[in-house]
Amino acid sequence: MRQCSITFIFLSVLCFSIAVAAQEKTFLAETHISAGIKCIDCHETAEPVKKASAKKCKECHGDMTDADEINFKDSGGGSHTLNPHNAHPGEIRCTLCHASHKASTLYCNTCHKFELQVP
Ligand code: HEC
Ligand code: HEC
Ligand code: HEC
Ligand code: HEC
Repeated sequence: MRQCSITFIFLSVLCFSIAVAAQEKTFLAETHISAGIKCIDCHETAEPVKKASAKKCKECHGDMTDADEINFKDSGGGSHTLNPHNAHPGEIRCTLCHASHKASTLYCNTCHKFELQVP
């Protein structure tokens, strides 16, 4: 019995660590795969050999220009309320901000210093 609960505790700790590790690096492709989306839905081929194109993103999500506005700050303490999908640079390729197998980056920050997380 005692042996059993020690094993149980060990396994629980192990599972928890794995869960935390997985959570730290859940990139967009994994989010999609969990939602039942297949490699082919983004890549157009079952065994991807090149980057997926933003054309596929738009087939499911549209151009996002009517998404909700959000609040965010810049490093200078200023605050902004806007839809990152519909700002002054006009139409930007989805994949310039949203990466799928690595961390996303905010394209706007090539010029600005906004504190805004991209999923
Ligand atoms: C076959 C349809 C489909 C395609 C293609 C697709 N998506 Fe998605 N996307 C979804 C669905 C469904 C969800 C919702 C997943 C969830 O939240 O459970 C989603 C969720 C998202 C999210 C929100 C993730 C989050 O953590 O909140 C982003 C951002 C996103 N997609 C961007 C993209 C980009 C960028 C591409 C192109 C590289 C793309 N999607 C291609 C269907 C698609
Ligand atoms: C300038 C950078 C940028 C570009 C380009 C961009 N996004 Fe986003 N996207 C964001 C940010 C930032 C968020 C998080 C918004 C929030 O926190 O509500 C987001 C959130 C999302 C979401 C999830 C939240 C929601 O409102 O449903 C989806 C889906 C999405 N983007 C799809 C797209 C698609 C499709 C394109 C191309 C047409 C695109 N994005 C282009 C920055 C960008
Ligand atoms: C949400 C859409 C999406 C899904 C789902 C997805 N990918 Fe990708 N994939 C991309 C995008 C966009 C890139 C470009 C690099 C990046 O954003 O990480 C890419 C890049 C790649 C590359 C590198 C190609 C190169 O030469 O740079 C490979 C290989 C790849 N994906 C394989 C897969 C496999 C295998 C699956 C299924 C398990 C998958 N991808 C699922 C969007 C997706
Ligand atoms: C090529 C450089 C460049 C890029 C990329 C860029 N901007 Fe700008 N942005 C500017 C310039 C230049 C101004 C006007 C100068 C000023 O008043 O600071 C400006 C002004 C703004 C302002 C007015 C408030 C402020 O901070 O001055 C907002 C808000 C803004 N941009 C949001 C965005 C968003 C959101 C993105 C990404 C979708 C983006 N910008 C991408 C150059 C850029």
